[in-house]
Amino acid sequence: MEKVIVALDFEYKEEVIKFLDLFKDESIYVKVGMELYYQSGPEFIKEIKDRGHNVFLDLKLHDIPNTVERAMRIISKFGVDMVNVHAAGGLEMMKAARNGLGNEILLIAVTQLTSTSEKAMKRDQLISVSLNESVIHYAKLTKEAELDGVVCSPLESRMIHEATSNDFLTVTPGIRLSTNDKQDQVRITSPAKANTLGSDYIVVGRPITRAANPKDVYFHIVDEFKKGE
Ligand code: C5P
Repeated sequence: MEKVIVALDFEYKEEVIKFLDLFKDESIYVKVGMELYYQSGPEFIKEIKDRGHNVFLDLKLHDIPNTVERAMRIISKFGVDMVNVHAAGGLEMMKAARNGLGNEILLIAVTQLTSTSEKAMKRDQLISVSLNESVIHYAKLTKEAELDGVVCSPLESRMIHEATSNDFLTVTPGIRLSTNDKQDQVRITSPAKANTLGSDYIVVGRPITRAANPKDVYFHIVDEFKKGE
C-alpha cells in the first residue's frame, strides 16, 4: 500500500463512490473524517474496505480514558488500518485508547492542530512555552503511551523524529504541488520536499479529489513522494 493517504472530504457518499470508482483496479489509502463518518457510518467503511482500500479513520477521539477505551474497542471491529486521538487527552487516555484498540491497528495522535497559532495556543490553552515545544512535548507523551506516531506539519517531521525516534511515524497533511492553489492551507510542502523532511505518510485531499484527472495526479504524487527531491 502506498503511503499517500487521500482525504475523502466529500459531502455525500455518492460523490465518494464516484471517486473510488476511478480506482477500481488499485488499492489506495484513504482518510475518512468526521463529516463522512457521521453521515455514512461504519457500514460505509466496510464498503470501502471491501473495495480493497486501506482506511485511516480520522475521528480525533478526546474523552475520559474509560470512554475512549470502550469506543476504541468498537472501532477495532470496523476493519480500519489507522485511527487517531488528541494527545491533549493525556497519557492515561492514550494508554486506554491503545488498550481498547489493540496493537494491530496504527494509532496516532494530534499534537497541536495546525490551525492553532502560537498566539491562540497561549491565549486559549494558557500554555506558556513555544508552539514547537508544545508539539515536541505531546509527541514524546504519545511515544510514552506506546502509540505509533503523530499527525503533524511536514515542517515538524524532522524535529519530532529527533525528539522521539526514526520509526515514530509522522503523518503529514498540508501538501500541494507547485501548480496547485494553496486554498486554506498556510504552510505547505510538496510531496518531494515532504519526503526529504522525513514524512512517513502524506495526507492529500483537494489536489487529488478536485483535479480534472484525479488518477493521474494521484500517481504523480505517489511517484514524487517516493523519489524525493
Ligand atoms: O485538501 P487538503 O489536501 O488540504 O486536505 C488535507 C486533509 O488533512 C483534510 O482532510 C484536513 O482536514 C486534514 N488535516 C489538515 N491539517 C491537520 C490535520 C488534518 O489539513 N493538521
